[in-house]
Amino acid sequence: MERLYITTPIYYPNAPPHIGHAYTTVYADVLARYNRLVGRKVFFLTGNDEHGLKIQRAAEKEGITPKEFVDKMAGVYRQYWVMLNISYDHFIRTTDGYHEKVVSEAFKRLHEKGLIYKAKYAGWYCVDCERYYSPGEYVLVDDKPHCPIHNKPLEWLEEETYYFKLSEFKDYVTKTLSETDIVYPPSYAKEVLNRVQAEGLRDVSVARPKDRVAWGIPVPFDPDYTIYVWFDALLNYVSGIGYMTDEVRFQGYWPWAHHVIGKDILWFHTVVWFSLLKALDIPPPRRLIVHSFLINRGLKIGKSAGNVIPIEFLVERYNGSDGARYVLMKLFNLDKDVEVTIDLMDSIYNSELADTYGNLVRRVGVLAAKKVKGKVYRRDVDKKIEESIETALGRYVEDMESLEVSRALSEVQELGKALNTYINEVKPWEKSDPSKELYSLLEGIRAVTVMLSPVTPRASTVISESFGFKLVSPRDFRVGSVERYNIVEAPILFRKVQARRESPSGGESPPSG
Ligand code: MSP
Repeated sequence: MERLYITTPIYYPNAPPHIGHAYTTVYADVLARYNRLVGRKVFFLTGNDEHGLKIQRAAEKEGITPKEFVDKMAGVYRQYWVMLNISYDHFIRTTDGYHEKVVSEAFKRLHEKGLIYKAKYAGWYCVDCERYYSPGEYVLVDDKPHCPIHNKPLEWLEEETYYFKLSEFKDYVTKTLSETDIVYPPSYAKEVLNRVQAEGLRDVSVARPKDRVAWGIPVPFDPDYTIYVWFDALLNYVSGIGYMTDEVRFQGYWPWAHHVIGKDILWFHTVVWFSLLKALDIPPPRRLIVHSFLINRGLKIGKSAGNVIPIEFLVERYNGSDGARYVLMKLFNLDKDVEVTIDLMDSIYNSELADTYGNLVRRVGVLAAKKVKGKVYRRDVDKKIEESIETALGRYVEDMESLEVSRALSEVQELGKALNTYINEVKPWEKSDPSKELYSLLEGIRAVTVMLSPVTPRASTVISESFGFKLVSPRDFRVGSVERYNIVEAPILFRKVQARRESPSGGESPPSG
């Protein structure tokens, strides 16, 4: 049986998640739900990256221990994922005992293999990224090295540390990136390849002195050191499905591994991760899906830039999780950064969910109740509608299988528009028995509802229950297979939002016009 093992990055819980984290997580959730819908066995892993200096400092600032801090934040993250209706199978925390054991054991094995060794290191470090930057990578502001992502001054660190022999994996990484289709879209593989070719691969530090970073997994054979957060974090993808603890589960899921990541952590997930896996004799993941950023006023949305859009703002504004999820997925772009404005999100929500879909469902539901007491029996489906349904389903499945969620949603929109055109042309409200027209419309609504269900699961369930049909796999959908619709309710699903001039981060200015 075909499977899907899908992961999000594990997030640094130094602050609550925002729209950027929601972007990745909802996308992974949509793929998980779609794959379950078509009958695949799915395991969906998300979680938090709880060790390291960034967390240690965030806890210090609050005057609590790192453990108390991450425990509290794990609750906060889980609540946000409930708010967005995220259907993960497991929430991994890097402070989980089973994970710590895997990290410690992997470190030991690589040390025994001679792939980890001790030496002196000096360089410019960004705490927000938890990584060193070499000349050429950082930017100079007033002659001082700054992080290119966070625009903050870098810290000079000098320490004796443990290294992982990344340099030994240059050929392996080059071959994996150039000869497989793992990285999607492929342009990101080329980007990494160019960098590998230009700069080569230098060994990387994989431990920190305990007196600098106490909050980490201890190096098993040297208690003066803790294991570097990225070494720790990447291994969540294997520890989370039973690596070293449940070999059958691990072997059952690893061949289907799909990691969803933002382009900011591409290097770690290709060069470093592929090498670590190879060093542990594990094949690379099946796919690495890379997306670009949500930006606002030209800057990546994030705590550092101070342009965060809170998740609760989206959920409140767009009528709950479904609206928020839809808007995010329609914005979703793998290649290009997307400038987010409230106006843009409002217009997606209003025109696609409220007008095209919600309104159609309501109109058809009300008409069926009024004209035929809610009972619509099978009739021949209008040829043009049948064609539109089949075209949409075919393209939708193709797009979803090729991981292109927002393109798939555009296909659904096309069908929604065709159904709206049809209802306005045939004017069922003028007929005494519009059963034929209603049946065609309902088959169309059923197809739209099925296709939207990975993105708007709540609304899809409400409609299928109110209209009396099942949410089948879009691959098994047959036009005209429903014997009878029994409409018990015509739900109003997506209320329109009014244009308001409002800043999502709180400050409100007076409504214009
Ligand atoms: N902890 C590491 C990942 C370790 S995975 C083994 C980390 N965490 S993070 O909290 O900084 O967030 C990571 C992810 O959040 C990014 O890769 C990206 O997927 C997502 N995003 C955060 N801000 C974003 C935007 N403004 N736009 C799109 N995605 C963004 O890195």
